[in-house]
Amino acid sequence: AAVMAQCRHCWRLYQATPSHMQTRQFKVAVIGAAGGIGQPLALLLMTNKLVTELAVHDIEPTTGFRKDLSHMDTGCQVKAYFGSDQMKTAIKGADIVMITAGMPRKPGQTRDFLFDTNAPIVAKAAALVSEHSSHALVGIITNPVNAVVAVAAEAMKKCGRYDPRRLFGVTTLDVVRAEKFIGDHMEINPRKVRIPVIGGHAGTTIVPIFSQCQPPFEGDKECIESIVKRIQTGGDEVVKAKAFKGSATLSMAYAAARFTNALMRGLKGEPGPPECAYVESDATDSPFLSTPLTFGPKGIAKNHGLPELDEREKQQLKVAVDALKKSVSKGVKYME
Ligand code: NAI
Repeated sequence: AAVMAQCRHCWRLYQATPSHMQTRQFKVAVIGAAGGIGQPLALLLMTNKLVTELAVHDIEPTTGFRKDLSHMDTGCQVKAYFGSDQMKTAIKGADIVMITAGMPRKPGQTRDFLFDTNAPIVAKAAALVSEHSSHALVGIITNPVNAVVAVAAEAMKKCGRYDPRRLFGVTTLDVVRAEKFIGDHMEINPRKVRIPVIGGHAGTTIVPIFSQCQPPFEGDKECIESIVKRIQTGGDEVVKAKAFKGSATLSMAYAAARFTNALMRGLKGEPGPPECAYVESDATDSPFLSTPLTFGPKGIAKNHGLPELDEREKQQLKVAVDALKKSVSKGVKYME
């Protein structure tokens, strides 16, 4: 089946597989793709060799944005969908659906404030995944993550297609910030830092586990407290720096692309190191909790549960769990 083709940059001939015979890797759908996070996320996914089909959907027109992406020579086909009716076509057959549709925070707003606007959007997308691509892994970026993941779970249960191994609240940005801030503090490459960040994705529900940091964290208690605070309020830092005109978009897109890549490696049966995400959990009293996960062909292959915690971290987790229980029950009640 292989044919000879000439390299576009030099005279060399190489063995090439015709494009129509290239192995299909994964279809990823980005819902809310025209937004501040959606666009750079789509860009990053276009450059990932594991993505062979990218569906970009938004309530706003995505045609121009798709045309722009479609000129990239990365071998990924991009298709555009817009408007409420086309969401299902974007989702149909997707292996992974990343949901970033909805309102971001405005001056003075907490993530919780977004619930009324964003919950119905997430509920609709989750129901469409159940109906049109129930095997898909779903990553929810839309805030408030702590509550809307429960909304998505309930929407999928109503369709009789909920699989807790396939639904994730994306908390990777908290991990990315932790690794960056720790790397900067220890004057080492942040890519060499690994730290579990458990709990949820808002303020004190974000619990970085410094006692399990690799390489071991070098710094005293005050130093840990100040970095924990910075990780927990990283979103506010960006909102302020953008003069209250937007929230984290580029770093979030980077984090979401890292998370999507980890899911795809799992689907291929070649998982990388564990990644934390907010999933259904029996590790604490909170029905959902972010803990380190290893991915496989069906989503979560192993939930590593709670890492070993020191006394300070146990206290922080207790505070987080109390808040998470309330957020989850808000999500469940909304769907009743
Ligand atoms: P944005 O306003 O720039 O983009 C949101 C996009 O969603 C817009 O293009 C909008 O047209 C689209 N949209 C709205 N309703 C829709 C619907 N029914 N169907 C399809 N598309 C729809 O907002 P941005 O900055 O991209 O943020 C998106 C969400 O991500 C917000 O809720 C924000 O709070 C959240 N976020 C989450 C983070 C995390 O760590 N999980 C970090 C930063 C933001």
